[in-house]
Amino acid sequence: MKKIKCLVTAGATREYFDPVRFISNPSTGKMGWFVAEAAKNAGWDVVLVMGPSQLPAIDGVRTIGVVSAQDMLRACLKEFDDCHVLIMSAAVSDVRPKFVAAQKVKKGDIDLNPQLERTPDILLELSKRKRNQVVIGFAAETTDVENYAKAKMAEKKLDAIVANDVSAKGVGFASDFNKISIYFPNAAAFFPPLDTKKNLASAIVDCAAGLIEKKRAGKA
Ligand code: CTP
Repeated sequence: MKKIKCLVTAGATREYFDPVRFISNPSTGKMGWFVAEAAKNAGWDVVLVMGPSQLPAIDGVRTIGVVSAQDMLRACLKEFDDCHVLIMSAAVSDVRPKFVAAQKVKKGDIDLNPQLERTPDILLELSKRKRNQVVIGFAAETTDVENYAKAKMAEKKLDAIVANDVSAKGVGFASDFNKISIYFPNAAAFFPPLDTKKNLASAIVDCAAGLIEKKRAGKA
C-alpha cells in the first residue's frame, strides 16, 4: 500500500503592516511540531508547513517555512491534492492590514485606525478541494469550547476536530502541556487526560490513522 502522505501546519502566521510591525498570536508551533514528529515516527511521509518559529528542524520531515496566511495557503495548495491526511494545527491570523508599507513607517506617521481585511480561511479552502483526504482541524477557544468546536467541524466539513481551551492555565500556547478534546462528526468524542503535547500528538496521529483506515475500508 502507498506510503501515507501527511500535511501538517503549525505555528502562528504574521501579517505585516511594514517591515517591523505585524499582527500575530502567541502560538509557538509546538503542538503541530510534535504532530509532525509523531507522524514521521508512524512511518508517514510528512510535510510540515510552519509559520516563523524557534523550533528545530525535524530529521526526515520536509519543512516549508511561511510567514503570512496567504503564504501558508499557497504552500498547502501545492501539497494537499496528493496527501492522505491534513492536520491543521496552525494558528492562522484571521485578519491582515489592507495596506502594507514597503519601508518602516515613522511612528508619527502610523495610521492609528488601520484598515484590516480577512485572511483566507485555509482549512475551509482545502476542505472544498477534499477528495479522499482525512482532514483534521483544531479549534482554539476561550468559552463554550465544545459548541464552537463542533460548529467549526461542521462548517469546514472536517473528519475530526481537536478542541483546546486556550484560556486554561498551564496548557496551550507556548506550554509543553495541553488539554484537548477530539470530536467526530458522528457524535463520538475522545477526551484524553491533560498530557504533554508530545503524547497528545501521538494520540492525534493514532486518531488520524484510524480515520484513514476507515476511509480505505469504505466505512467513512
Ligand atoms: N484556520 C485556517 N485559516 C484561518 C483561520 C483558521 O485555516 N484564516 C484553521 C485553523 O488552523 C484551525 C481551524 O481553522 O484548524 C479553526 O481555527 P480557529 O482559530 O479556532 O477558528 P476560526 O476558524 O479562525 O474562527 P473563530 O476565530 O471565529 O473562532
